[in-house]
Amino acid sequence: MKRTAVALAHPNIALSKYWGKRAGGGNVPAVPSLSVTLAGLATTTTVTFDDALAEDALVLNGAPAGGGPLARATELLGRVREAAGLRARALVVSTNDFPTASGLASSASGFAALAVAAVRAAGLDYPAERVADLARRSSASAARSLFGGFVELDGEVARPVAPPGQIPLEVLVCVTTEAPKAVSSRDGMALTAAESPYYAGWLETAPRLHAELRAALLAGDLETTCALAERSALAMHASAFAAGVVYVSGATLDALAAVRALRREGVIAYATMDAGPHLKCLVHARDAARATERLSRTPGVLRVIRAVAGGGARVLPSSPPGASDDEAARVVDAAGPLAEEPPR
Ligand code: DP6
Repeated sequence: MKRTAVALAHPNIALSKYWGKRAGGGNVPAVPSLSVTLAGLATTTTVTFDDALAEDALVLNGAPAGGGPLARATELLGRVREAAGLRARALVVSTNDFPTASGLASSASGFAALAVAAVRAAGLDYPAERVADLARRSSASAARSLFGGFVELDGEVARPVAPPGQIPLEVLVCVTTEAPKAVSSRDGMALTAAESPYYAGWLETAPRLHAELRAALLAGDLETTCALAERSALAMHASAFAAGVVYVSGATLDALAAVRALRREGVIAYATMDAGPHLKCLVHARDAARATERLSRTPGVLRVIRAVAGGGARVLPSSPPGASDDEAARVVDAAGPLAEEPPR
């Protein structure tokens, strides 16, 4: 027998960052974070539990994947199997409609879509909070992609804080390299916790910045929200830098200078960076075209991807209404589940 489900999730960018995990395991962030879920960019994932499969299998962006990515998917699928009392192995087919080296974490949208599709395919009746908890265990930032708009992750719990229209924000992703990142966020934060003389300062500062940013967002204050986001990113990178974990490049700093020049000209524009050299400019929507033009001409910026706040992860129709399990499985086998354009 086959059981299949398709889900879609968007990436998210943290405004107040988390960096570092709590001791004791379970992949729980050491500090709270708040992100914006991005519309227009998505991961679509199909999970098919199939009694005929000997092992779990993963197809990522059209190519079979093994090693670490398969092991992390299998870990999540194992949790779902245990909860649902299922033995069947699964085929996971996952596709991003944005390039992997785009400066957007595909693990956030990837594990959010995988968790939603696996839970649905297994027939578990989980509320979104519980699916978010499942996604968080695989990649903490993935918990935030379950929800749309502005989303908080505090300890083990992810929850929506404000709708997409809360502030007139655009996010301009300045892509600075096509290369994959040298140090994963997981390794980078472990090294920071172990070796940075400023990690203690980060643990003290981050919750305060988070609380101030949350309050500014709820007050609808775009400028204060973005200014605090920049401070959060700089504090995170400063603590990592002191442990030798350097994600910024010359191009990142040139883009940061361009954002500051825009600010001197009266544009509400601030910067944030994650575990890679790509800068994300947080800008008032009315100035997004001007900022895009300026950042596109900055040396080292290869291209700029524009995004606004969007919706949360969701299940997509995987088969014609009324189709039986077997018919649904034939749709998967015959066309490849992603051959059809998913409804947006
Ligand atoms: C800098 O959630 O990717 O983007 O749980 O180890 O997979 P793992 O880490 P991940 O770390 C994200 C770090 C960050 C900040 C943030 O998103 O809050």
